[in-house]
Amino acid sequence: MTALDDPWLRPDVDFPSDGNLEERIRFLIGYATLAPSGHNTQPWLFATGPDWVDVLADRTRALPVVDPQDRELTISCGAAVGTFEAAARRFSLQTTVATSPDSDFSDHLARITVADGAQPDDSEIALFNAIKSRRTDRNAYFMEDLPADLMPGCRDIVESVGASVQFFEGGTSVEKIAGLVAEGDRVQFDDPSFRRELASWVHSSRLGSRDGMSGTGFGMPDILAPAARFVIRTFDLGTNVAAADAKKILGGSPALALLASNSDTVDDWLNIGRALAKMLLKITSVGYSASYLNQPIEVAALRLKLAEASGVARYPQVLLRVGRSADSPAPSARRKVSDVILT
Ligand SMILES: Cc1cc2nc3c(=O)[nH]c(=O)nc-3n(C[C@H](O)[C@H](O)[C@H](O)COP(=O)(O)O)c2cc1C
Repeated sequence: MTALDDPWLRPDVDFPSDGNLEERIRFLIGYATLAPSGHNTQPWLFATGPDWVDVLADRTRALPVVDPQDRELTISCGAAVGTFEAAARRFSLQTTVATSPDSDFSDHLARITVADGAQPDDSEIALFNAIKSRRTDRNAYFMEDLPADLMPGCRDIVESVGASVQFFEGGTSVEKIAGLVAEGDRVQFDDPSFRRELASWVHSSRLGSRDGMSGTGFGMPDILAPAARFVIRTFDLGTNVAAADAKKILGGSPALALLASNSDTVDDWLNIGRALAKMLLKITSVGYSASYLNQPIEVAALRLKLAEASGVARYPQVLLRVGRSADSPAPSARRKVSDVILT
């Protein structure tokens, strides 16, 4: 893949400052595709107009077992929207997001209208600079306090879309949440359909794959992705995964963060994704990382228990570990930018 096509490698200085708005929008889509997505499915497509970009769900990339309602698929598309918004500000553009703009076409998740705007401030530049260094970092983190202004900064981001984020730093809530994550691991890995679906998204990037996760996400070298796929598909790893997750939560996660919403609609999911993307950029911008513990949200029977254990609003949407690790993982694969823009 050439630097032009690989959104991780494309130089920022190639931004077409003198181009028309649609050309600038098309360049910004490359940043949007660096957003996180469930199993790295990258379930998004984009269509552009003179001053807008539509974000569409690509449901051929859905995960019907782990995500039967396409809730996480929509959050992932929201993360692409949030990353686009952060990138646009760097180049002095302002964005307005309309969610579910077409009631007759449910795949049309958002329209982002773009216009010339003010120069970015330092915090906006910091978010942009984090886009290419953000990773889902599944390592254990140092047990140290988070920087003082990180949690308030994340709260501002999440509250700006009408959602909430609550942080947990040790104590009974963390122990209860760890128990629910472990239960979620056991329930999910006990289900052969879950294992088969997960295994089908484990690919080696050396074989030219542009989506899915490499073996490294599962503690194996990338080259062993086929082995990881076999192991995941064949064995019920629930007990081992549950034990490893509990250890990482209790001994390698200075904080957990639970994003939640007051209702559970497509618009809520999209807005949670927007906030998630910007919150992760904020975390990255101060040298910290995050990874996901969504099992007790994905298992329907545990979602209510998680809400009770954490005392948050009714609909938990994303559960993260937040901290600082010794190593930054390699970037995960991305599809060619030209493959996700509809012509
Ligand atoms: C909505 C959503 C749910 C996710 N759920 C999980 C999860 O349960 N476990 C996990 O390890 N990673 C999870 N991820 C992280 C993805 O696997 C990760 O974003 C993807 O592999 C791309 O890697 P990157 O974030 O390093 O770019 C999730 C990401 C999103 C956006």
